[in-house]
Amino acid sequence: MTVEPLPIDPFLFRQALGRFATGIAVATTLDAADSPVGITVNSLSSVSLTPPLILFCIDRTAAAYPAFAAAGGFAINILAADQQALSVQFSLPHDAEIVPDRWEATSWRQWTTGAPILDGCVAVLECRRYAAYDGGDHIILVGEVMQASKAPEEEAPLLYFQGGYRDLAI
Ligand SMILES: Cc1cc2nc3c(=O)[nH]c(=O)nc-3n(C[C@H](O)[C@H](O)[C@H](O)COP(=O)(O)O)c2cc1C
Repeated sequence: MTVEPLPIDPFLFRQALGRFATGIAVATTLDAADSPVGITVNSLSSVSLTPPLILFCIDRTAAAYPAFAAAGGFAINILAADQQALSVQFSLPHDAEIVPDRWEATSWRQWTTGAPILDGCVAVLECRRYAAYDGGDHIILVGEVMQASKAPEEEAPLLYFQGGYRDLAI
């Protein structure tokens, strides 16, 4: 396959990045009033093994941004194939009329930091904030993973590719 380079424009940029297949996670934390806050993200990346570091990026205009920018800890809930509705629930704008409370009908618990740990995920990483960096219109949050859990290997993850939800074809 030959891929010819094209000058970058926002549409091409998004389309090119859409060729990078990812999983999907709901990043969660507590706000200053100890209310749960969550946002669907696919910018998750592993960073370091020692110490165990991960990162994700959050839009400075997201309603969840102030809580994450201030939080000392957060959780990364990696969604299972049957949790597409959760991904949608935590990605629609807070002010959209059709969106109910993101936490209504979402069952969760708390470990150490208090960040919501969603039930039914393929994996969960609970982090303390390690660093935060400027990332243009996002900030890059790096977390040190303090606790983790994972589902059995046969539990399929939810995938995202070219702007749509996908199943792992195995
Ligand atoms: C598959 C998918 C991945 C997303 N990844 C990110 C991300 O990595 N960072 C981010 O800030 N927003 C991401 N978003 C968008 C946010 O989920 C969305 O803008 C936000 O929840 C809108 O609500 P709010 O701004 O009212 O909080 C993603 C959305 C989807 C559907």
